[in-house]
Amino acid sequence: MSRFALCILAFFSVNVSLAVAGDVEAGKARYAQNCYICHGPSGKGMASYPKLAGKEISYLVDRLERYRAEERFGPNSDLMIMNAMPLSDEEIANLAAYLNSAKVK
Ligand code: HEC
Repeated sequence: MSRFALCILAFFSVNVSLAVAGDVEAGKARYAQNCYICHGPSGKGMASYPKLAGKEISYLVDRLERYRAEERFGPNSDLMIMNAMPLSDEEIANLAAYLNSAKVK
């Protein structure tokens, strides 16, 4: 393999791992834009709005991707579809990283 090809390969693998890991600070900032209104501070949940703090990253990503694809699997999925539609893959990864790390009392 040429040195150039190796360079390209290295570049993409770094990007992929960043996207998968997600950026906690960016996720926190995105969460503060509107998610907290229903899910409460630090994703602690409120009344019928599910708790998100501490959930598995893969679970959170899966749920957000499915809402984004307009899948209805809960009684109030329409509320979430509206909120998930504008999210990019990067925002979903960041939100999942943040919520997984969020601690609530
Ligand atoms: C208008 C209120 C509202 C807002 C704003 C909102 N959500 Fe939700 N969210 C809900 C409701 C209601 C559910 C449960 C939906 C169902 O019945 O399927 C939910 C479910 C979820 C779930 C799945 C939880 C689980 O355990 O299955 C995730 C993840 C989630 N929301 C993340 C977010 C994120 C991230 C944002 C911000 C981009 C956000 N929500 C904004 C109301 C909201």
